[in-house]
Amino acid sequence: MSIIERAASRLEQKQSAAAPAAPVEQAAPAVELATAEPAASEPLQAAVAADTVAAAAVAPNVAPDAAPDTASTPVPPAEVGASAASARTGRPPKRVELDLKRMQDIGLVTAAGGRTMLVEDFRIIKRPLIKRAFTPRGPGENPGNLIMVTSSLPGEGKTFCSINLAMSIAMELDHTVLLVDADVARPSVLRTLGLPAQRGLMDLLLEDKVDMGDLLLRTNVDTLTILPAGSNSPRATELLASQTMTNFVHEIANRYPDRIVIFDSPPLLLTSEAHVLAGHMGQIVVVVEAERTTQHAVKESLRQLEGLPNVNLIYNKTREFPGTETYDYHYG
Ligand SMILES: Nc1ncnc2c1ncn2[C@@H]1O[C@H](COP(=O)(O)OP(=O)(O)OP(=O)(O)O)[C@@H](O)[C@H]1O
Ligand SMILES: [Mg+2]
Repeated sequence: MSIIERAASRLEQKQSAAAPAAPVEQAAPAVELATAEPAASEPLQAAVAADTVAAAAVAPNVAPDAAPDTASTPVPPAEVGASAASARTGRPPKRVELDLKRMQDIGLVTAAGGRTMLVEDFRIIKRPLIKRAFTPRGPGENPGNLIMVTSSLPGEGKTFCSINLAMSIAMELDHTVLLVDADVARPSVLRTLGLPAQRGLMDLLLEDKVDMGDLLLRTNVDTLTILPAGSNSPRATELLASQTMTNFVHEIANRYPDRIVIFDSPPLLLTSEAHVLAGHMGQIVVVVEAERTTQHAVKESLRQLEGLPNVNLIYNKTREFPGTETYDYHYG
């Protein structure tokens, strides 16, 4: 029996044992399905039993979120880093306009897009990540609200999943999201969103006098702020491993406790930046591309992440749909 079949049967057992009215908690089995923690006795072996990762079954019957999604929830200024931090320098926060219609057309999650299959998939994917983001952490543990999205190799869907996860969480009533483009060698968050390149993370790490508030971009999705990758630097790996980066990560994790920070990251197997970045994170999401990412690549990526907490897999591009819903996403 594959990992997916075993997880699905565990899910069924849990659901039949569960109390009838626990809609949000019922999403929890999706975490088990996704989690690739070293303590699990057999999932990795089973998950990568074929040349390409075995086709995933959906974690079924997950009840819709209790809270309605909205992109226009007003956020108190103190909760939005861009405005608060800029208040220190006296400069107004930068603001960019996301073209929500264009985003929807290229398959990204938006509040305007309605309840598409994509939106539903990311509701399921985000739920356990949000839950763990705000679970009290033990001494020495990385903050759970820092979530890195990575994959083995280029093109497997890291940026796509990062933006969709960020948009999906930003539509929650209670959370603000900071989307950091940490793929500093090949940044693509702004390009994917149809925005011009801007200064960002690397500039913050390179220059002593830069204030984070001057680099953050507020958006027309009130709860979403973006930190671009910024200038390219040959010292990217050292900068990401630097004390300045540790300070930055600590600051953003703790200053706004209701905020989730999503890091769109480089691939694990081609760069050392991703590994360095992973060391700061409380949760890691590894995107696996259906029919493309090999068993060997997944194993090697998970080996690189050994010892790090809360490693999850997203199984991306699992099947084709007509129209704008090109692919589906599943935990697996
Ligand atoms: N689930 C999906 N449905 C439709 N298109 C997708 C999906 N996931 C990724 N894509 C498309 O696949 C391509 C690669 O995706 P993306 O840029 O997110 O990959 P990446 O892992 O970030 O790549 P890189 O390593 O180059 O940064 C893009 O054209 C993106 O639009
Ligand atoms: Mg990318």
